[in-house]
Amino acid sequence: MTETVTILGLESSCDDTAAAIVRHSIKEPAEVLSSVVFDQNALHVDFGGVVPEIAARAHVERLDICVEAALKGAGLKLDDVDAIAVTSGPGLIGGVLSGVMCAKGLAAGAGKPLISVNHLAGHALTPRMTDDTTFPYLMLLVSGGHCQFLIVHAADRFTRLGGTIDDAPGEAFDKTAKLLGLGNPGGPLVEKEAVIGDAKRFKLPRPLLDRAGCDMSFSGLKTALRRARDLIIDEKGGLTVQDRADLCAGFQTAVSDTLVEKTRRACLAFMDETNAPTPVLAVAGGVAANTEIRTGLQGLCAAIGFSFLAPPLKYCTDNAAMIAWVGVEKYRTRDFSTMALAARPRWPLDQSAKPMLGSGKKGAKA
Ligand code: KG4
Ligand code: ZN
Repeated sequence: MTETVTILGLESSCDDTAAAIVRHSIKEPAEVLSSVVFDQNALHVDFGGVVPEIAARAHVERLDICVEAALKGAGLKLDDVDAIAVTSGPGLIGGVLSGVMCAKGLAAGAGKPLISVNHLAGHALTPRMTDDTTFPYLMLLVSGGHCQFLIVHAADRFTRLGGTIDDAPGEAFDKTAKLLGLGNPGGPLVEKEAVIGDAKRFKLPRPLLDRAGCDMSFSGLKTALRRARDLIIDEKGGLTVQDRADLCAGFQTAVSDTLVEKTRRACLAFMDETNAPTPVLAVAGGVAANTEIRTGLQGLCAAIGFSFLAPPLKYCTDNAAMIAWVGVEKYRTRDFSTMALAARPRWPLDQSAKPMLGSGKKGAKA
């Protein structure tokens, strides 16, 4: 087995163009030598969401600059890396294609192996890069585009225990912010408003809690919030600062209650399946930054004997270090791709799980 592996990772499946270099030696913690992320927020802000064609074009324009910045940041030349790892799905097809084409060019030009990475595997394996977490562990992926529970058995083996059947929670936060006239991204703004809010004033639903299992739904919650908002506007002609704060607090608590209860069920299912002696719940995704949600999950873990693990936010949200890390894991098993590697808009990690309905703000991801 090769002792030290250095991988260049590329990520362009949504609206972040990213390149990173990760180095790993057996029995040593992984080292992120550089991690560069160019976000495209300014390009999409006027459209109220990610425009796939604009995203793809921006990736094409920025990928090579991003790679150069990552190499420079790491103090390396392309020849110094052992392989090129790239997100080849799931995601917005134009963006994924841009990354795959760039990686193929780099791999062919430098004579290096090409490694295909599932974006969701990148999120799911991040705790191994940041905390050397051992298999198996439970992962809750909760962002603007994803929401699912995964048992991570091995670098290439996952069981999906459940997930959202419609909107991802981050998407619901963003839509709520829009309904209340707040800016984008909505999550942090809703959280800020909620600080002075009364979460009990509006009776908002806890969707699918009456149904067994770990599936979730967040689109009905957003509709309930809109109704509550419209009732106030009909009554008083507009929203006061306190009305807005109360709506935000009610929404945030409803999401948190739902996630915590579904996570409790996922933890039980994880124990049933793995009987892990020191069980770990890891989270990834932007929504994991929310203090109420994080505190709720931490409290749950403390109560049921799980360790709670939240990697640094820069590695929880979309980045290329997580892609390079999967590259490290695949390099060690010589799991390389050929130049025939195709971009895949859909690519569920757990091929045996039933397909989820709907898709997130950032396109159908799983
Ligand atoms: O993981 P991420 O950066 O990107 C992907 O969706 O892939 O997650 C972004 C999402 C956005 O929907 C944003 O509103 C949400 O995470 N978010 C939050 C918070 N910070 C970011 N949601 C709730 N509370 C937060 N503090
Ligand atoms: Zn992601």
